[in-house]
Amino acid sequence: MKKLSMFLPFFLFSYSCFAQCSEKEIPVFLVGPGLVGEELLHQIKDNFSADGAVRVVGLANSKSMSFNLEGTSLEDLAQSNQPMSIDAFVSQMVALKLPNSVFVDCTSSQKIADSYQSILRSKISIVTPNKKANSSSFSSYLELKDLTEQNHVKFLYDATVGAGLPIIQTIKSINRSNDRVVKLDAILSGTLSYLFNTFDGTIPFSQVVLEAQQKGYTEPDPRDDLNGLDMARKFLILARESGLALEMSDVVVQRFLPEACFAAASVSEFYEKLKECDVELSSLAKEAKQKGQVLRFIGTLENGRAILSLQAVGSDHPFYHLSDTDNIASIRSLVYSKNPVVIKGPGAGAKITAASVLSNIIQSGE
Ligand SMILES: NC(=O)c1ccc[n+]([C@@H]2O[C@H](COP(=O)([O-])OP(=O)(O)OC[C@H]3O[C@@H](n4cnc5c(N)ncnc54)[C@H](OP(=O)(O)O)[C@@H]3O)[C@@H](O)[C@H]2O)c1
Repeated sequence: MKKLSMFLPFFLFSYSCFAQCSEKEIPVFLVGPGLVGEELLHQIKDNFSADGAVRVVGLANSKSMSFNLEGTSLEDLAQSNQPMSIDAFVSQMVALKLPNSVFVDCTSSQKIADSYQSILRSKISIVTPNKKANSSSFSSYLELKDLTEQNHVKFLYDATVGAGLPIIQTIKSINRSNDRVVKLDAILSGTLSYLFNTFDGTIPFSQVVLEAQQKGYTEPDPRDDLNGLDMARKFLILARESGLALEMSDVVVQRFLPEACFAAASVSEFYEKLKECDVELSSLAKEAKQKGQVLRFIGTLENGRAILSLQAVGSDHPFYHLSDTDNIASIRSLVYSKNPVVIKGPGAGAKITAASVLSNIIQSGE
């Protein structure tokens, strides 16, 4: 009895330390070590390699996957001969039964997003910058929310909109306090932001687009930015977070370029068609300038309607002063009715996106 009581304090100390450590430790299963995913691996290594509080124990790209309870790396992945299959990846992750596990999807793959329901059913949290799941059908968006609640896990996706900017967080915080979003205006495409922050009608719009493409600011086919669809997807996520049961088809995208530009058979043919729009777009920009305004491609959500369109805004508008690839959101709620909450900053880039994903990973363990 005496012996036991001698060891009891040590045992209690060790046990409480173990309980605390294991409670704190977050095993990460990461799919997609591309631009964002690889940066995330660096940030985890730089910030958590000493205490192991966040440890990458499963890693996969489109070709292979690797697992190691002590921690796995890109080097392990390169040497792995386990072919990647999302079903096998999820099965191994679930079989390990590690407390606080989090599945991190840094792909833009629909196939990976389709696995979320089974992952949540297995009581594993999900963190992702991938927009696919939350911008698919409203019923599957709701299903993910329900599964998250029923299984007492987290599904966090702050980086899907505005990269590291706290736009989704702010809307969630408004909802939590029983307040309600009444109007939302936003520019959620770094590329469209850059184009209209640069274009004032003095240089042809086609030249501004070409230069942006050469700087790597646009997709290889700039129409993938100019068609507004990527921004519409992000806007749909914000609309749903604001409580609206919208489908992608409900988000109206008023394109500022004629159909001929989008129908062109190649990128070079697209530029030829785009040049035909230069005069009209320049006069639009100059007309705005004469009135002290600038052109911006803005998404607006009001009275249940979501519309993306080219607008001219004056210097009293929060979207007038933007630079580079800034994203911005202006949120009016019942509480913030007179002056909206405005969130502005860089809306793309691997570093800030990975930091937002990492922040969500930490949050998943809370
Ligand atoms: N880059 C940004 O600034 C930014 C900002 C906000 C949000 N995001 C979002 O973050 C996500 C990642 O973007 P990124 O720029 O890092 O993309 P990326 O560089 O193209 O990397 C994609 C990664 O996903 C992997 N992958 C693709 N399909 C896969 C599959 N079916 N199974 C397993 N792995 C698969 C790729 O593997 P392989 O190399 O083997 O193909 C690669 O490792 C996207 O959803 C993007 O929209 C990015």
